[in-house]
Amino acid sequence: MLRMVPSSRSLYPVFILAPLLASALNVSIPLAALSTVPAVAPELISLSIEQDRWVDWAGTSAPNVFFYNALDNMVQITGEPPWIRIGADSEDHTIFSPGVEYEEDIFPPSTAITPYPEATNISAGYAFYEIISHLPAGTHVHWGVNLGQYNITAAYLETKAMIEAFNTPAVKQAGITLDFIEVGNEADLYISNGARNSSWDPTEYISQWSTFAANVSDAAGLSPTSYTKFIGGAFAGSSHNVTWFSPQAIFFGGILNSEPGSLIRTISQHDYSGSFCTGSGAVLQQLMTKSYIRGNISVFIPDISATHAQGLDYIIGEGNSMSCHGAPGVSNTAGAALWVLDYSFFASQVGISRLHFHEGIGYKYNFIQPVTLNYSILDGSPITPLPPHIQPPYYAAIIAAEAIGSSGDTKAIEIAVNNANITGYAFYENGALSRALFINLLAYLPGDSVRTSTHLDLNLGGYGVSPETMSLKRLEIGYANDTSGLTWGGQTYETSDARVSGQEVLQYIPVSAGIDIQETEVVLVQFL
Ligand SMILES: *[C@@H]1O[C@H](CO)[C@@H](O)[C@H](O)[C@H]1NC(C)=O
Ligand SMILES: *[C@@H]1O[C@H](CO)[C@@H](O)[C@H](O)[C@H]1NC(C)=O
Ligand SMILES: *[C@@H]1O[C@H](CO)[C@@H](O)[C@H](O)[C@H]1NC(C)=O
Ligand SMILES: *[C@@H]1O[C@H](CO)[C@@H](O)[C@H](O)[C@H]1NC(C)=O
Ligand SMILES: *[C@@H]1O[C@H](CO)[C@@H](O)[C@H](O)[C@H]1NC(C)=O
Ligand SMILES: *[C@@H]1O[C@H](CO)[C@@H](O)[C@H](O)[C@H]1NC(C)=O
Ligand SMILES: *[C@@H]1O[C@H](CO)[C@@H](O)[C@H](O)[C@H]1NC(C)=O
Ligand SMILES: *[C@@H]1O[C@H](CO)[C@@H](O)[C@H](O)[C@H]1NC(C)=O
Ligand SMILES: *[C@@H]1O[C@H](CO)[C@@H](O)[C@H](O)[C@H]1NC(C)=O
Ligand SMILES: *[C@@H]1O[C@H](CO)[C@@H](O)[C@H](O)[C@H]1NC(C)=O
Repeated sequence: MLRMVPSSRSLYPVFILAPLLASALNVSIPLAALSTVPAVAPELISLSIEQDRWVDWAGTSAPNVFFYNALDNMVQITGEPPWIRIGADSEDHTIFSPGVEYEEDIFPPSTAITPYPEATNISAGYAFYEIISHLPAGTHVHWGVNLGQYNITAAYLETKAMIEAFNTPAVKQAGITLDFIEVGNEADLYISNGARNSSWDPTEYISQWSTFAANVSDAAGLSPTSYTKFIGGAFAGSSHNVTWFSPQAIFFGGILNSEPGSLIRTISQHDYSGSFCTGSGAVLQQLMTKSYIRGNISVFIPDISATHAQGLDYIIGEGNSMSCHGAPGVSNTAGAALWVLDYSFFASQVGISRLHFHEGIGYKYNFIQPVTLNYSILDGSPITPLPPHIQPPYYAAIIAAEAIGSSGDTKAIEIAVNNANITGYAFYENGALSRALFINLLAYLPGDSVRTSTHLDLNLGGYGVSPETMSLKRLEIGYANDTSGLTWGGQTYETSDARVSGQEVLQYIPVSAGIDIQETEVVLVQFL
């Protein structure tokens, strides 16, 4: 770690430019957390994996070291791996086939809008489930079974194979657990995707889900005392009331009163902030807009209240920036990393306990590309083989891990920043202020003449001893639409093995000096 000498703000060049480019704001941060401040778990930012290429992520005869390392980097920071959900769209196109070793897929043709389409037919065998042992020790897993194809034998055999895999010595020794089984993906879309006819509604859903879940429950040996439970919902959208698919509707319809329904512990909602399904353009600054991020999350507040009222946990079980694998120049950029950070921490403020960012091989919005790609993720054109690499949003997972830390008792509260484009969060360990994170969501793009900087004076107040010194760690970004070349505290994760490289650079300054944050930048403050 490169320790810079604590110095006054006047030594920094930005001070000289200040009259031209900088504006100043007062920011108040309480020194101690009130009891109402929400807890944030290390797994706040978790992953969802499209299961048609699960073997590419996990590795077959040996673990995929790149993917393992990318997850283990989080373990090195917080002590906990991200949670992994496996399933998604291909969950409803998978059957079990004992003659298949790992997985066999039938893929539709690649197109410019969807260079890496989801498989239409997937056959999974025993080893498909057994390679769950390749994840970091202690990983918590949700896995989906098929409801969409109305094939109860598929759901039954998938469950049997899954349970057998989680009972193998390799998985047990690693403490990798099956926390939840998900029965069906985005069942609210079954009319539009042709899985059901127009009679499909929440009542019919509850009936069929209960039939399938009863079979799965029996096959898996689930009970009120078993470790594994069910995830409920997993809907693409929400009506937010009892008239159509929503948590409210399935509670109203009595799902929790059925025997398998009584084993639901968490409600999963899927959420994307826009879509690239028809190839229409998206605008990076819109994704990064503070008020839109708050709007996209806040629509779920009634659903979260209804869920908590039933004593259940609420998560975003699948999501990312733009649906249909992301939008080019938006989802795969540095700006998207800032979106992931603010979206996730804002979600933690309204009762969302975990978010699973969706990943598939070659998807534009991925944090991680775990295998060599031979076609452009942007338009499907042939490319020189591109080895495994991380994409800019991965930095958000690292930064969140560092902000949350390894205390096992971290709480976070949003800091009121009186600026339309800057957000902030304060982190408390065992009740005392330890860190703060600031995000400047203004997209600095090629052609913008001026990159403004804002000065934040930090007023620490309330109960507790006020720290006098702080260290600053910056996510340095050239332009908001950069797809590589980011550095976090001077270090890079854009390496051939996903391990961090370079010397860490922190700035040590008095708290009274305040901080400067420029457009398209993240600053993590550690109070010393
Ligand atoms: C910040 O707060 C200090 C003390 O409370 C006050 O003197 C100063 O004018 C404020 N600055 C701004 C920009 O509001
Ligand atoms: C249903 O699933 C079973 C077991 O996975 C499979 O053998 C069978 O072919 C499937 N039926 C249909 C109609 O796809
Ligand atoms: C793919 O699955 C569908 C059922 O969804 C089935 O009708 C079709 O025969 C399968 N195709 C192949 C090539 O197995
Ligand atoms: C679950 O479904 C399978 C396949 O149809 C069947 O063999 C099994 O008996 C069912 N289990 C229960 C408890 O009904
Ligand atoms: C939809 O399918 C179900 C089951 O096959 C059937 O009972 C129902 O009549 C169908 N509804 C329509 C509108 O076709
Ligand atoms: C329920 O949700 C639907 C669909 O979003 C909406 O049209 C309707 O107004 C809502 N009803 C109530 C009572 O909020
Ligand atoms: C959600 O975010 C998108 C941009 O990503 C924006 O267009 C939309 O208006 C936002 N929705 C709400 C409810 O704020
Ligand atoms: C970033 O945006 C500029 C125009 O604003 C464009 O010329 C450039 O190609 C973009 N970069 C990437 C990597 O998409
Ligand atoms: C790209 O080609 C290499 C070499 O044939 C292959 O190993 C790899 O799986 C391919 N990538 C994808 C995503 O199919
Ligand atoms: C926030 O960003 C918008 C452009 O997205 C800009 O018009 C506005 O002036 C900015 N507000 C502040 C306080 O910098």
